[in-house]
Amino acid sequence: MPNRRDFLAGAALAAAATAAPRLMAAEKHPEGDNNCVASTLPSNPPLASKLFPPEHRFGVGGTQLGNMFKVTPDEQAEAMLEASWASGVRYFDTSPWYGLGLSERRLGHFLDGKPPQEYVLSTKVGRLLIPDASVDSINIWHGDINFNYRYDYTAAGVRRSVEDSLQRLGVPKIDLVYIHDLAPSNEDMGDDWKKYLDTALKGAMPELTRMREEGIIGGWGMGVNDIEPSLAAIDNADPDVILQATQYTLIKHEDALNRLFPKCRDNDVSLVIGAPLGSGFLAGTNHWMYSTDIPDGYREQRERLSRIARDHGTDLRTAALQFTAAPDVVAATIPGARDAEQARQNYQSMTAKIPAEFWQTLKNEGLIAQNAPTPS
Ligand SMILES: NC(=O)c1ccc[n+]([C@@H]2O[C@H](COP(=O)([O-])OP(=O)(O)OC[C@H]3O[C@@H](n4cnc5c(N)ncnc54)[C@H](OP(=O)(O)O)[C@@H]3O)[C@@H](O)[C@H]2O)c1
Repeated sequence: MPNRRDFLAGAALAAAATAAPRLMAAEKHPEGDNNCVASTLPSNPPLASKLFPPEHRFGVGGTQLGNMFKVTPDEQAEAMLEASWASGVRYFDTSPWYGLGLSERRLGHFLDGKPPQEYVLSTKVGRLLIPDASVDSINIWHGDINFNYRYDYTAAGVRRSVEDSLQRLGVPKIDLVYIHDLAPSNEDMGDDWKKYLDTALKGAMPELTRMREEGIIGGWGMGVNDIEPSLAAIDNADPDVILQATQYTLIKHEDALNRLFPKCRDNDVSLVIGAPLGSGFLAGTNHWMYSTDIPDGYREQRERLSRIARDHGTDLRTAALQFTAAPDVVAATIPGARDAEQARQNYQSMTAKIPAEFWQTLKNEGLIAQNAPTPS
């Protein structure tokens, strides 16, 4: 029976075995809009870590594949994935929630025929999809959705969710499964999140551990926008990896840095950083964490950060992405990209060299925490 450590070691071996072709893919990429392009993506230490790799600390998120905010046409979604793969990305995250199945269907179509040992694939559990022809747009998802959803964090619910995902993705095994959006900031839950947590502690979590032992999944964790559920899962169960979204960005990071990171270190749990661009704000869009209500002072802070970045020969998006990949507990940062051009730009950001003085200036001006790790 494979267990957690077999999976982690196995993933590391697979990463090492495929490292050469991946690096070649990354180095081969010809285009660049950044003046100072380094040779490769920041990488996890091969074989040295007990934490899951992928080899590169850079993956791609699947929200845009699910038509977040607006419709992403099929060809554009495919081109985004092609550009990501061409630049060496080998970690792909999705969820049944993203476009109510659409993101998984598109990602599965793209991965069809690619050797599973060459990439890491994560999806999520917690919502079961219910066919409903009356649903067009729902929440932040657009287009002809045709599905509604209900929450289910029971053992049977998460097993069914994984089986549904396997079929939508067209794969026989999923590397990582995250318990999705079980959090106080989920507006469907609010204070009731603890009731859902209780269900998950008795149902979803032990069942995902069993599925890990059965080899249907490689590992599991939480995929959430708040820190409390991540801490609770580490304290009360046996997660491998936490997808912590919205809590670790250039603008807002102290809580994750001071409460979550030490807990992860102490328990050999690694982190994947979701929404590293604040859902677009740090790349210049008008969305901060999925809302157009931008918190007071954030636009001014973005302007100051952008100006200091320009003064040091870099740009805000580049700083924002590299910042999230720098801590030792972070295995990958996974920005979303709307199209091929954004995917290529984000790769260029991840390979650019940022002068150390830039980070020191941010610390001197109180724009990032003194104890925040910065790229070397
Ligand atoms: N609870 C959870 O588990 C959870 C929560 C959040 C996120 N996540 C994961 O984290 C991933 C990333 O989050 P996200 O995509 O929602 O937010 P994000 O990565 O912070 O921002 C993505 C958005 O930034 C803009 N952008 C990206 N690259 C750009 C570029 N080069 N130039 C200009 N704009 C650029 C695009 O906005 P436009 O589309 O407007 O152009 C894009 O949609 C998700 O896809 C998901 O896999 C998980």
